[in-house]
Amino acid sequence: MASQSEAVMDRNMAIEAVRVTEAAAIAAEKWIGRGDEREADAAAVEAMRAALNKLSIDGTVVIGEGERDEAPMLYIGEKVGTGGPKIDIALDPLEGTTITAKANQNAMAVLALAPDGDFLNAPDVYMEKIAIGGGFKTALIDIDAPPVDNLSRLAKEKGVDLSDLTVCILDRPRHEELIASVREAGARIFLISDGDIFGVMATSDPNSGIDMYLGSGGAPEGVLAAAALQSIGGQIQGKLLFRNDDEIGRARKLGIEDLDRVYDRDDLASGDVIFCATGVTDGSMLKGVHKFPGGAKTHSLVMRSHTGTSREVITRHNFERKLGMDD
Ligand code: FBP
Repeated sequence: MASQSEAVMDRNMAIEAVRVTEAAAIAAEKWIGRGDEREADAAAVEAMRAALNKLSIDGTVVIGEGERDEAPMLYIGEKVGTGGPKIDIALDPLEGTTITAKANQNAMAVLALAPDGDFLNAPDVYMEKIAIGGGFKTALIDIDAPPVDNLSRLAKEKGVDLSDLTVCILDRPRHEELIASVREAGARIFLISDGDIFGVMATSDPNSGIDMYLGSGGAPEGVLAAAALQSIGGQIQGKLLFRNDDEIGRARKLGIEDLDRVYDRDDLASGDVIFCATGVTDGSMLKGVHKFPGGAKTHSLVMRSHTGTSREVITRHNFERKLGMDD
């Protein structure tokens, strides 16, 4: 018989989860192109928190806005919901604060839910990541191998030339060497300014033209990306990167002992995971929030790993009829 936690991860929860990312995206929309990352993030956080607190769950934020002393809302360990089954929550109310501030592409509100204990309690440090799409033999990639080796293996599996592959990498000075080695190997590079959850997810989208994701980004984003791949398929490996003792201390506080461990998709996020994302700015995967007189239209993706179902949800929100009630 299904436990109470399992029972709640049903179809209805998926639509409840979408309401949460829709609320965050709509709140962030006001800050698109206004040059203020902090306000954009704060608006999304506040709206997401209010929406989460309407859910009938005993939710605990395991991937959030930071640790308790540094984040006033949605900090790691914060309890949300009106009560009910125990659910772990990984969230990023605004993935792409700078993207939003600059009105660039692919900012989104992101949320993943799973019954107790299925997300890595990742500290807010960098994570080295490698990801590819689904349908390949397991362990095709190896985060410890040079890029040329991983690219050669993928090219062979895909039956294409290595020079036909495109790798998505965050455009950062710390990636100079990585970029040089991918170029030397002969692959194309799709540089992004921010937003590596999108970068990882794009490897699983046959229309994106992206074959592999490489480089370091936030560890929390690594967990959320793995949660998405649980439904859409794809492989990811991640390794935490520590720049100082403080970061090592943070990891230890969260119970991480092996600092060199390679995490695969299931280590990062597993179980019956519901993942959803709502576009804030227009992107190749999701449309952003579009206002119209009296309302707004949102575009979301909602996926459930248990069934492998992935839905696109387009919602027309009527602000005038809401009358302070749930929509
Ligand atoms: P924010 O939305 O918090 O600004 O994060 C955007 C992002 O690009 C992530 O997608 C990525 O994991 C991380 O920042 C990379 O960090 P950094 O900007 O320090 O290279």
